[in-house]
Amino acid sequence: MNTKKFGLIFLVMMFCLMGSVQARTKSIELPPDGVSLKPSTLPGYEKALTNCVACHSAEYMQYQPPTAARPYWENMVKRMKQVFKAPIEESDIPVIVDYLVKVYGNEKTD
Ligand code: HEC
Repeated sequence: MNTKKFGLIFLVMMFCLMGSVQARTKSIELPPDGVSLKPSTLPGYEKALTNCVACHSAEYMQYQPPTAARPYWENMVKRMKQVFKAPIEESDIPVIVDYLVKVYGNEKTD
């Protein structure tokens, strides 16, 4: 084997080694997505648990303006249903909106 060839093989080997070391030490940072819905005795809490956190965490609700009023939440729920095809029963919408506005919106009691 001539030295030129050996050098090339050596280089390739080093690359592979570096690659595998890097792959092992690299860690993937996932966005914090473990926020749960705020528990409540309102009937909409149970509904929201089954209808609103299948696609994303409750972080999205948490980041809505606390001044958001009932129509805002109603539009939000309807948008989830119409635009993103969330399987929400039409009759559950007011119950869910009631929970959202009282827990995250401008009808907050605490
Ligand atoms: C079928 C999947 C799905 C379901 C179920 C769902 N969402 Fe969403 N939601 C999305 C997607 C996708 C986005 C991101 C939209 C974007 O980035 O603009 C989103 C975004 C949001 C946001 C962020 C604000 C915004 O305007 O983008 C809020 C708040 C929200 N959803 C609330 C809800 C509520 C409340 C429910 C239950 C009634 C719900 N979601 C159910 C898919 C869903």
